[in-house]
Amino acid sequence: MSKSSIKTIGVLTSGGDAPGMNTAIRAVVRACSYYNLNSIGIREGYDGLINNQLSKLDARSVKYIINRGGTFLKSARSDEFRTKEGRMKAYQTIQENEIDALIIIGGDGSFRGASVFYEEYGIPFIGIPGTIDNDIFGTDYTIGYDTALNTAIEAIDRIRDTATSHNRVFFIEVMGRDAGFIALNSGIGSGAQDILIPEVKDSLEELFSSLEKSEISGKNSSVVVVAEGEELGNVYELANATKEHFPDYDIRVTVLGHIQRGGSPSCMDRVLASRLGIAAVEGLTEGKTNVMAGLQSNKIVFTSIEEAIKKHNEIDKELIKVAEILAR
Ligand code: F6P
Repeated sequence: MSKSSIKTIGVLTSGGDAPGMNTAIRAVVRACSYYNLNSIGIREGYDGLINNQLSKLDARSVKYIINRGGTFLKSARSDEFRTKEGRMKAYQTIQENEIDALIIIGGDGSFRGASVFYEEYGIPFIGIPGTIDNDIFGTDYTIGYDTALNTAIEAIDRIRDTATSHNRVFFIEVMGRDAGFIALNSGIGSGAQDILIPEVKDSLEELFSSLEKSEISGKNSSVVVVAEGEELGNVYELANATKEHFPDYDIRVTVLGHIQRGGSPSCMDRVLASRLGIAAVEGLTEGKTNVMAGLQSNKIVFTSIEEAIKKHNEIDKELIKVAEILAR
């Protein structure tokens, strides 16, 4: 599709929601208005394309959402879009509503769906990385990550208050199905004694020795932050193994869970979402497709969707060292 032939852009949010998705939708809609393009909101991710759940949006329809958590378009992990029949229905909706291009706000699974759809029907699209996990290649930060980190450290700080009062060891699970970004950064930010993430091969011996050292150094309580995707064991298994090794320890477990996914987006997420929303609209009008708009070293960059899906953001080794040095 040539540059000038894009008149109507459809926008959807897909996969796990993330704070800042609303801000990104707002930016897409207002950028469309700025460039005299029509914008259509697609409800409940790809399911809305399949079931023709659309609404025309304009600059006023996205008022008062810049600060709201969740996504007013709603989100879904669509099983039907994984089928050829589902995608055929989605294409019919696109034709009937004269949608020329799509903006997909979500994670790598959502981008994979858009990519298959492009191969079959040639609908241009640009992805915007929206997930609290920060696990998407091609951007330093994903929308929602900063807010989730702030929520996590606020919760961990509160847990530390009670942990200290009772001389307890707390195992706290934070989100991150396949990635330890939330765990590592919230662990450093809250002064955790140990941080267990899937990117690092951990052992129970190392965990026990770290807890022992903390006791010897005069600490009466400790916080261990565990990523949801930790391979050594889940947070309950790790707590049980620790109790067996140190029967005198008073141990508790807290799973922060979906509390990390909600709430008003931080300023950093709002600015990020605003920039990426505009970049995606501009990218489409410049003829770009099959790319993801991201931010690297504070500059907008476009990464091919293939790379964004296949490659993984590496954990910064320096951060692991920071966590180790400070846990004494
Ligand atoms: O991908 C974001 C995420 O919050 C992961 O950290 C978590 O494992 C997953 O989504 C939970 O998904 P659901 O809300 O479908 O249970």
